[in-house]
Amino acid sequence: MRWRLIVPVVTVAALIALAAVVRGQPTGLPEGLTILGEPVTVEQVALGRTVYAENCASCHGANLEGQPDWKRRLDNGRMPAPPHDESGHTWHHSDKALFRITKGGLGAVVPDYESDMPAFGSKLSDEEIAAVLAYIKSTWPDRPRAYQAERSQDDPL
Ligand code: HEC
Repeated sequence: MRWRLIVPVVTVAALIALAAVVRGQPTGLPEGLTILGEPVTVEQVALGRTVYAENCASCHGANLEGQPDWKRRLDNGRMPAPPHDESGHTWHHSDKALFRITKGGLGAVVPDYESDMPAFGSKLSDEEIAAVLAYIKSTWPDRPRAYQAERSQDDPL
């Protein structure tokens, strides 16, 4: 009779212990990384890497380096694609702003602004947009990442 009680209790305790070990395992991601208020997962970053390669790398560079001479206006009066690494200004914007820019283009945050940045709202799901931003954020060194995390807190959803 007593075993009937002990076995499930021990099993549950073992599962809790296992979950704690798994949770504590290093993921290779910066500690505490979030996107739009949610913890970033390894799977999300893997998806984001693919989304980036297929949709963003052609302009923003395979290594997030941006277009050459990206600070100089093009002949058509528009700006080239900036880097998404530390040398650019992606990390100056909150998660919410980055999400809106990616989904709706620059026009979503600066009305009537003419830009070569496409709106991805009809091509990518909200999950894919969050994933690509999570991937970009996962590559940043500590300082820009901490700054951007603060910006995101000041600009909640
Ligand atoms: C056809 C080229 C092109 C593609 C593809 C593209 N972008 Fe852009 N993106 C731009 C350009 C150009 C700008 C700068 C716009 C400006 O200032 O007028 C920009 C700007 C941005 C910005 C604002 C950066 C800042 O610091 O202000 C974000 C965020 C961004 N892109 C994300 C993405 C993501 C994510 C993808 C892929 C899902 C992507 N872009 C694909 C051309 C592109």
